[in-house]
Amino acid sequence: MTEMNRREFVLATASGLVVVGGTGIAPRLAAAAQNGMHVRHNVYCLNPAGREIASYKKAVTVMKARAPTDPTSWAAQAAIHGTLTPLAGMITNQCKHGSRFFLSWHRIFLYYFEKIVRAAAGDPAFALPYWGYTPTGQRNLPVSFRSPASAANPLFVAGRHAAINAGTPLFPSVVDAGAALAELGFDAFFSPILEGTPHGAVHVAVGGWMGSVPTAAQDPIFWLHHCNIDRLWDVWIAGGGGRADPTDAPWLTTAFNFYDETGATVSLTGADVLNDARQLRYRYAPDACAQGEAKGFDKLALRRHTRRVPEPRMIALADSLSRRAELAQPLELAQGPGAVTLGPAPAEARLPLTPDARRALESFLKDPKGGKRLAVSLEDVRVEGEAAVFYEIYVDLPAGGAARDTVYTSPHYLGNLDFFGEGALTRRYNLAPVYVRLRELKTWSDDTVRLTFVARPFTEGGDPGKLLGARTQAVVGRIALRIE
Ligand code: C2O
Repeated sequence: MTEMNRREFVLATASGLVVVGGTGIAPRLAAAAQNGMHVRHNVYCLNPAGREIASYKKAVTVMKARAPTDPTSWAAQAAIHGTLTPLAGMITNQCKHGSRFFLSWHRIFLYYFEKIVRAAAGDPAFALPYWGYTPTGQRNLPVSFRSPASAANPLFVAGRHAAINAGTPLFPSVVDAGAALAELGFDAFFSPILEGTPHGAVHVAVGGWMGSVPTAAQDPIFWLHHCNIDRLWDVWIAGGGGRADPTDAPWLTTAFNFYDETGATVSLTGADVLNDARQLRYRYAPDACAQGEAKGFDKLALRRHTRRVPEPRMIALADSLSRRAELAQPLELAQGPGAVTLGPAPAEARLPLTPDARRALESFLKDPKGGKRLAVSLEDVRVEGEAAVFYEIYVDLPAGGAARDTVYTSPHYLGNLDFFGEGALTRRYNLAPVYVRLRELKTWSDDTVRLTFVARPFTEGGDPGKLLGARTQAVVGRIALRIE
């Protein structure tokens, strides 16, 4: 065990967590493999010197040695997601981003990739680990992926941000799934918000290959990151309260192509992957490294990810919104002042509310026909140069702002602006919970919605001013507030 390994090992055991992997877990995993069920563990709970990590390392090495024309090679698998040099006749550049197929497509992608890894490693019991970061718990790059920091380690990638490879914890809001998990509607906000944070935010925070779509899947941490996103889909469903997968035919029946472990082209649809344990024979161990396996997801799993325990009134509102119909025509309440330039200092955008807009907002809360969504939409977001920071967005920050107002647990927090994607980006946020909270706190302003963009480092201790210098990071072309 290297020094880093030992430290993480001791940290895990000292905090009452039990490290699995190595020899202790082998009989149970063997049994699981026999009935065809595989358990994906939190990577922080695995022994870095244990069987799972060894198998993954072996598979990466074996797959990298295969020719890119081999569908089971590392290059071909990464190219299914994205590539700058597509090979003719191969499945390439398929990643579904900014799309309602985001979760289902990536679930199928992981499923076949895991089969390929299992075969390449010669380990039929292998299951992909997930990167179980949480805002209040561990959130550094897992030690096996950065130590040893040399080409001899197949999980190490030199091009990541230096602080990431040094093991510096991610900035807490980068990994906060709370805003996404609190949503009740799959298409309305859960999927798009989760795709932004933690998904896109973690991509860009890791940097290097992970930071851009056409190269992301080349980094071995990509697959563990996506297992966690896949797991959060399960956590969301288990939260109940009306949370449900889409039921429309296009979502259920659109088929996507991949390669299986023999290199054959295979395809699955959304309807095939609704229940990972029943249909795909894998499930997720709980994110706390307790002994034994969870029977399923409990409310605690959701609670762990949502530090802001929702107030009963918020739940009632979310519940009523989930049953309302969308407006036939979205109602534009307000528009931003034009382009907003984001640099190292906090930037403000004011959206003035007309008397009509105020009335519409009032009735949005009470009127069952008042629309389903209150959305802040950032459009035509152009990133300049390399992403050195991301932004937290706050609503109606009090003048002179205390530090407790500008943290992701504050009632003013709307969400993050991440820069994962190509070309002009669009991001949507749910203003309804913030609106209700601020009204209750009597800090909601009726004349203007004031958004403040606060530059944040990807990892703890980073200084946005130093990371960015005086330059511009991004320009938000248009901001709109709509009832939909
Ligand atoms: Cu298709 Cu996380 O990227």
